Amino acid sequence: MAELLQTRDFRQFRVVPRTPVIGGWIEGCNLAELDEAGLADLREALWQYGVLFGRRQHLSFDAMKRVAYGFGEHLEEHTFAPTKADEGHPEVVVIERLPSTSAKSTTDLWHHDVTSRKHPNIMSLLQAEQVPFGADTMWASMTSAYERMPHALKLLFENVEMEHDSLYLALRHGFGTPEMVARIVQSGEKATHPAVVRHHATGRPCLFVGNAYIKRIKGFETDISEALIKIANDYSKVPELQVRHEWEPGDVALWDNVGTSHYGVSADIGDQLRRLHRVAAWSENMKPEPYVAGPQLSAAA
Ligand SMILES: [Fe+2]
Repeated sequence: MAELLQTRDFRQFRVVPRTPVIGGWIEGCNLAELDEAGLADLREALWQYGVLFGRRQHLSFDAMKRVAYGFGEHLEEHTFAPTKADEGHPEVVVIERLPSTSAKSTTDLWHHDVTSRKHPNIMSLLQAEQVPFGADTMWASMTSAYERMPHALKLLFENVEMEHDSLYLALRHGFGTPEMVARIVQSGEKATHPAVVRHHATGRPCLFVGNAYIKRIKGFETDISEALIKIANDYSKVPELQVRHEWEPGDVALWDNVGTSHYGVSADIGDQLRRLHRVAAWSENMKPEPYVAGPQLSAAA
């Protein structure tokens, strides 16, 4: 996408591209100071770049929430992850790995956030408090992933739906404390989404597949389903479609949770603390809708 090769000036900030296909630096503003026009430009920039990074933003939780409200009328209240509810911010998810933590986290899987919900997040905003060297985060353009597929694979995935299930995530990948798994069981969160969705803002096709929440392709036998999910997920792993961020304290990353997939690098950080905070927005007006192009195969289920 050649349009990502140039620095682009918006009204209250500019964006400097990080790769030709995904990612840009936001420069010349603190996100807390954006007014409505600035937030409108932030939305436009995010749909174009997929993920935006800001150095030394040091946003308050209230400021993070205000930015997030620019993307949807609801903020995510996570079902099973730790939050800052005890400080009056149930919308702020704490993503941390303490030196004593042995429970596996979900970060080292390619995924879109909370796709087990009927209305997944539109935008997630993550701010680093402390991240040791090596514990980076990676994003992949799922618009470019779709474009990279041969025509036959595009046709296949345009014609199937994926079953997303939080409990499957916990059981398949063995993550979470027993208390977290109990909350997942209680939530019963599961949803079915198309494998290729039409982006709600750009109208472009996005491959909406990862290997965290997806249990199976609807109507497919398990072994065939798993083989095809692996093929789709392998497109997230293509280096040319990725951007990787090395965190510094106060850094912010916000991403298009439909058009990109992400992965938290599970580095050996010894006895160091890793802690970030996340807020995310969703809307009752946005649920993943199928992208349909070209001749149709027969119905999958
Ligand atoms: Fe995530």
